[in-house]
Amino acid sequence: MSLKEKLDINNIPQHVAIIMDGNGRWAKQRQHDRTFGHESGVVSVKETVEAAAEIGIKYLTLYAFSTENWSRPKEEVDALMSLLVKTINQETKTLNKNNIRLQAIGDLKSLEKDTYTELQKAIENTASNNRMTLILALSYSSRWEITDAIQKIAKQIQNNSIKQEDINQDLMSSFLTTSNYPDPELLIRTSGEYRISNFLLWQIAYSELYFTPILWPDFRKENLFEAILDYQNRERRFGKISEQLLNF
Ligand code: IPE
Ligand code: IPE
Ligand code: MG
Repeated sequence: MSLKEKLDINNIPQHVAIIMDGNGRWAKQRQHDRTFGHESGVVSVKETVEAAAEIGIKYLTLYAFSTENWSRPKEEVDALMSLLVKTINQETKTLNKNNIRLQAIGDLKSLEKDTYTELQKAIENTASNNRMTLILALSYSSRWEITDAIQKIAKQIQNNSIKQEDINQDLMSSFLTTSNYPDPELLIRTSGEYRISNFLLWQIAYSELYFTPILWPDFRKENLFEAILDYQNRERRFGKISEQLLNF
């Protein structure tokens, strides 16, 4: 039986988020420069998007570039941004063919004008697709996002659009860049690092975490299915005890 066949189709997470890590190390192992690792990682992105859509995941968020990644050498940042634009242009057709909608979260205004324009074009071109939503986290960090949300809330209080008493968890969620998506049930990180690196801190409060030593350019469909299978064997208690979960 294949891994895919082993999956319980009634227990597929709605939203899976992935920290795609290890491109640089993968390239180094092959005596190549880091850019080669990023380019090779695009194959893994395509495989993962396809696999996710196949098993009925509704939202897939990929951490592609963090606000902290701006501090990398300029050549690497430039290479990553051109790769992004190139891939988006090449893949818009396939996204449409597969009925997948593209979205992006992060400090998108900090992207270069060309990158931003191409990204918006692809978002508009795929806007009516409804099989799965692919969300790219670009120039994203959770602390940026939470700070930005607080700024916006403060402004609305100041101009009397909302009252201080209105602030609750739902309001807070509605001011985050992820306001239109459910929280991820599963967060995957590749490359054997056990950290979150400023990703979706609010949204992963109750997510299941899955870490794999696989470097991102080696990540294939089977690796996603493995992670989902592992997720399906977890008991999500949300603070309750086991016995309470059967009779809700
Ligand atoms: C992940 O791979 C891609 C980005 C962060 C853009 P890395 O580039 O972080 O690869 P490692 O972690 O150095 O191997
Ligand atoms: C996290 O990877 C960001 C992305 C995958 C885009 P990093 O490689 O930047 O994370 P750290 O620096 O190892 O924590
Ligand atoms: Mg890394």
